[in-house]
Formats: sequence, structure tokens, C-alpha cells
Amino acid sequence: MWRENSCLKPKPLTRVAPVPNKQTMAHAPHKPLPKKLHIKTFGCQMNAYDSERMAEALQPQGYDLTHDPAEADLVILNTCHIREKAAEKVYSELGRMRLTKEHRKERGLDTLITVAGCVAQAEGNEIIARAPAVDIVVGPQSYHRLAHLVEEATATGKGLVATEFPAEEKFAHLPERPKGKARASAFVTVQEGCDKFCTFCVVPYTRGAEFSRAPAEIIAEVEGLAGRGVREVTLLGQNVNAYHGRLPDGSSWTLARLLRRLAEIPAIERLRYTTSHPLDMDEELIALFGEEPKVMPYLHLPFQSGADRILAAMNRKHTAAQYEALIAKVRQARPDIALSTDIIVGFPGETDADFEETLALAARARFAQAFSFKYSARPGTPAAALEGQVPEAVKRERLHAVQSLLDRDRHAFDRASIGRSLDVLFEGRGRKPGQIGGRSPYLQAVHAEGPETLIGQIAAVDILAASPNSLTGVIKSGFEWRGPVQAAV
Ligand code: 5AD
Ligand code: SF4
Repeated sequence: MWRENSCLKPKPLTRVAPVPNKQTMAHAPHKPLPKKLHIKTFGCQMNAYDSERMAEALQPQGYDLTHDPAEADLVILNTCHIREKAAEKVYSELGRMRLTKEHRKERGLDTLITVAGCVAQAEGNEIIARAPAVDIVVGPQSYHRLAHLVEEATATGKGLVATEFPAEEKFAHLPERPKGKARASAFVTVQEGCDKFCTFCVVPYTRGAEFSRAPAEIIAEVEGLAGRGVREVTLLGQNVNAYHGRLPDGSSWTLARLLRRLAEIPAIERLRYTTSHPLDMDEELIALFGEEPKVMPYLHLPFQSGADRILAAMNRKHTAAQYEALIAKVRQARPDIALSTDIIVGFPGETDADFEETLALAARARFAQAFSFKYSARPGTPAAALEGQVPEAVKRERLHAVQSLLDRDRHAFDRASIGRSLDVLFEGRGRKPGQIGGRSPYLQAVHAEGPETLIGQIAAVDILAASPNSLTGVIKSGFEWRGPVQAAV
């Protein structure tokens, strides 16, 4: 059953109670020696955000980023545990890192290896036991302690493991974000962890209980990003629409309230959020699609399976019909919305008939974008122990079938953009020389010939063609420059 992790003993997953910790380790003494940091990020957008914050937290210690692991005094593997042979991939990556460390040693250079992310959280001590070249294992709730851990590991040469769920709040203890120019689109984590306990999922164990950041903290971060040239913010959370950030007076803000407030920041022109759970898609949030033009017409809303039997076994707490009623409401609020989803095929007990229901729901929903996965038994989760695990070959076949349907709908959605004029936020160079590239409101990649001075701005583009992964078009003539990026927010 756990073939992918056959050399690891599956251990029951538990949530660790918060450990009081009085140290404010984020404020480690500054030692600005020039050193190099290499971060390899696996998994979701939240990991990408975390990697950015870790790099920023290490800057005061003199660490600058490098793309070359052989140059790095400190290597961080920011890992993902959600599917597949995640842990095994980490161990083979660590094998390569060990060789790099040995080669550097021969040149008289030290290397600290850190494993961060959800594999770090799930495996803990086992990582150092199996890969002794690892110096630090740090779980997602302890990144604010990283600077301190690096100092301690450097000083003592001992392996350190920080996978408890500290009582102090990570975000409040991370250093402020830097001041320099940023890319046009940024992620901001507003909510972390999950209390939904879908039976296939490790997130409630690796990321812990649901937690929402305070509105004031998020507003300050987004205002800071706006001042650095950011025009689009994607709010991140494992269950982002369950957001309920507390105010000092004890009341709390919903995600819709937070979005409305962030929309008041003039330089922020686009807002997105991901990932949402159908149960938390409340009326206020749905209505916002029709009311707040800065909220982009794109919603990622996983449905996982079209069969009620399987949805119940997954503990999703909704039926297929309820999901379809929900997306109908969303479409009523914003008829042009691009819907995106996640689907799992081959959940334990899934029959051909169940799978047909998944195909049928996907076909009716006409998703603009979708992510589909073969069910992967995660050690310690309830579904891993269920009878009726589906053979790999069946999962492969079902994945293939659902992906061809989803690809067809994605292309249909993209082709429907031909002839339309779409606002594109240009984020960087395009695929070909002379091109710049960005995203449409529907999150489609768009390339067009244009000056690099347009990067960081929104311009209307007449869409001429749709290839499998992107659209191409021409920037509308008569486009008026909106002037240099404003510094004020
Ligand atoms: N196996 C396959 N897919 C999974 N996902 C989460 N856990 C598993 C698993 N054990 C998928 C779900 C989720 C997405 C982030 O990853 O579809 O929405
Ligand atoms: Fe995992 Fe999402 Fe379910 Fe939470 S809601 S347990 S993160 S799949």
C-alpha cells in the first residue's frame, strides 16, 4: 500500500500541541558576511511564498540567493508531501546535495543543508537519521526561527529539528518584507492550515490547525507590496475562503471583507485568492465577483469527485449536486468567470460508474483550467487504510480519460478568447525575442510584441491565436501609458 515509501515506516499522523517558546529567534544578531543561499522549492504556491519569506529572513545574516547549489553555503529544500513519491524525491535530492557538500568540503567550504516544508514536518527526526548530511529540519510553522537555527547549527555542528507548532505566531515574528522593486504579481499567505480533514489529505497534519492572519498585518503587507510596484495580489490559504482574521476588539473579518478593503489600495489593480473549499463559498464572497471589479473573474474550486459515495468517503461534506448548484450561483454573479478545479481519480473504492460521474460533472461544468491527480495513499491518513485501493493501471487509465476531457474544455475556453480584447498584466519577457508576457483576467498566459517598459502594467491586448498553453495577440493601438509606476499606495 505504501510502496512509494516502502523504506519508510508509515507512522500515524498527529497534530502536535503548541509548545510555548519565549525566544524571539527571528531577531537573531546581524552578521552581514557575504554568503550564498540556494532554495529549491517543490509543491504549491504557499511553498513559493514561504521560500521568498525564508530568503528575506536570512538576508540580515548576509545570505544572497544563488541559482547554483555548488556555490551555496546554505541550501534549503522546501518540500511538498501532498502526493506521490514526495519523500523519496527529497531523499534522492538529498543524495545529490550530500555529494555537493563533500565536493565543497574538499575545497575547504562548509555547506549547511536544510529541509523545510511539509516533508520536514511529516518526517522530522527521521530525515537526519536517514540523511545525516542534513543539518536542519524545519517545519512550516517555524520559519521565523530559521535565522537562529542556522546560527546554532553553524556554531554547534549538530543536527537541529524544529517541527513543533510553536505558540508564538510565525508571521508576527518574521522580519518585515524588503523595500526594493518587486514583480507585478505577488502572493500573500492570509490563512494557513486546515480543519476539514478530507480523508486523503496530509495538510491538516503538516500545516496544522486553521489559522488566519490579522487583517491589519495583511493590509500593511499588501500596501508595502503596492509601493514596490506590485499590481496583482493572490491571497493564499489551504482553505482561503474560511478566512476569519481577528481584530483587536475580538470581531473578525471574512475573506470578502478583507478583499473589499484591499481593493481600496489604489495601486492594487487585481485581486485573486486560492484555494477555496465549496462549503466556505458564502453569499458575500460570491456576490463580490459581480460587485468588485478588482476581484478577477477566476475561481479555483476543487470538486475532487462527481460521485456522492466517494465524496462522502473523502469527507468533503457536500454532494455533487450541491457543488453544481454552487458554480451555477457563481456564474450568475459573474457570467464570464473562469472556473478551475482539482480532481482525484482512483480514490479507494472508486468504481467505473463512480468515475463516469466524475467525467460527467467535469463535462457539464466546462472548466477553464483543471488539475487532476491519481489518488496517492499518504501514510497516516484515513483513506490510506481503506479497503479497495485501486490498481495503478486503472488510475492511469482514468487520469488519461479525465485529462483529455479537461484539456478539450481548456482549449475551448482559450479559443473563445480569440477576437476579444483582454486586459493583460505584463509580468516579464515573452517566449520570443521582442515579446512580453503576462496574464489575462482569466489567468491565461498571454504573449504580445511590446516594449519592456510595459512590464508591470496592464494593457488591453487583442487576442489573435490560442496555442495549447498560451494566447498571443497585439497590444491595442491607442493604448495610453498610465505613467510611471506610482510609489504611493
Ligand atoms: N492523492 C492525490 N491527490 C491529492 N490531493 C491532495 N491529497 C491527495 C492525495 N493523497 C489533491 C487534491 C487537492 C490538491 C491540492 O491535491 O485534489 O485539492
Ligand atoms: Fe486537504 Fe483541502 Fe481537504 Fe483541507 S480542504 S483537508 S487542505 S484537501
